[in-house]
Amino acid sequence: MKEKGMNGVRTRDIVLGVAGIALIGGIGYGGYSFYQLSKEYDQTREALEAASGALEVERQTNAQLSESLSAEQARNADFENQIGSISSTVGKLDKLQNTDPQVLAKYSKVYFLSDTYIPRDLVTLASSSGFEASRTYKLTQDAAVQLEDMFQAAENDDITLKVASAYRSFNEQGGLKSTYRVTYGKGANAFSADQGYSEHQLGTTVDITTPAIGGGFVGFDGSEAFTWLNKNAWKYGFVLSYPKGNTYYVFEPWHWRFVGTTLAEELHSQNIHFYEMDQRKLNQYLIDYPN
Ligand code: DAL
Ligand code: ZN
Repeated sequence: MKEKGMNGVRTRDIVLGVAGIALIGGIGYGGYSFYQLSKEYDQTREALEAASGALEVERQTNAQLSESLSAEQARNADFENQIGSISSTVGKLDKLQNTDPQVLAKYSKVYFLSDTYIPRDLVTLASSSGFEASRTYKLTQDAAVQLEDMFQAAENDDITLKVASAYRSFNEQGGLKSTYRVTYGKGANAFSADQGYSEHQLGTTVDITTPAIGGGFVGFDGSEAFTWLNKNAWKYGFVLSYPKGNTYYVFEPWHWRFVGTTLAEELHSQNIHFYEMDQRKLNQYLIDYPN
């Protein structure tokens, strides 16, 4: 019994002992695992913090780089603009040096062209542009190109324009004026310039007529051709020199002078005529001429 009892006690103690050891072992193992896990966690956290710190540094570096890049690009664009504007100014000054300053001077009784003045680049107009097929009509290259374009545009609108007179040399103008004087005496001064004072000597000026009125000038002011010119000539750089009420000559609806498209457009938009603009202001347009 005692033995049995003894045995019973021992068995229970052993069972409890083993369970206790297992429990202590388990707790110990669990504690160890927890310790390991928390250590790993700390390490991971530290690693993450370090990594995000590095990322922040990288982000800031990238932002700085991109800022520097933008600044550099802006500087380059600025530089390119400066170069573009310098070369365009150089081009314009170069052109200005080769532009005849006479092309925008007021030649009606104000300035004088000598007998030796001959425009340097006279060309002969297409024979279809002249009213008389047997005659040769000349203008400067720039004026001729624009005149032919203008005549074509008018033709597209069913308006036929023809040149009755274009470049006239100093001597031709002198001869013409003498002829008028014979008939009209001093009265000729109202419609004909003395030699050296005619815009025709510049090679940029034409007298325009239309077959609809027989090629002359009588009735030109009432013609569709004149209406068309008033509306469109400025687009091609041509302006009416002697409008109604001008202080130089009688109203000459047929007499058109090429002054470049920029100036013609400006005069058109200000609704003023060439001779109403100050000479110093006119000269400012030499840099754009023939545009
Ligand atoms: N008929 C214009 C004024 C000239 O002779 O130039
Ligand atoms: Zn004329």
